[in-house]
Amino acid sequence: MKIICRCEDITEEEIVQKIKEGYNTIDELKRILRVTMGLCQGKGCRRHIARILSRELGVPIEKIKQPTYRPPTKPVPLKACSSKASDLEH
Ligand code: FES
Repeated sequence: MKIICRCEDITEEEIVQKIKEGYNTIDELKRILRVTMGLCQGKGCRRHIARILSRELGVPIEKIKQPTYRPPTKPVPLKACSSKASDLEH
């Protein structure tokens, strides 16, 4: 058993099974298995999933469409966006 998406605890076998059921894009796998939706937002698994899709579908990896990607966000204080902290105190 090889874990591909560590954030969502999804194995290669689960991904291959869904591909065999007809889910043929990373976005479809994302919706059905939640891969790429964990804390790292797919940094740790996206390219592995593309490789598995490429292998299972028999298409070059360059032809595998990448999913919608949103970088992980981290809250920052508003004053981090201002050159003067006193601008935000009033
Ligand atoms: S390893 Fe898949 S979302 Fe983080």
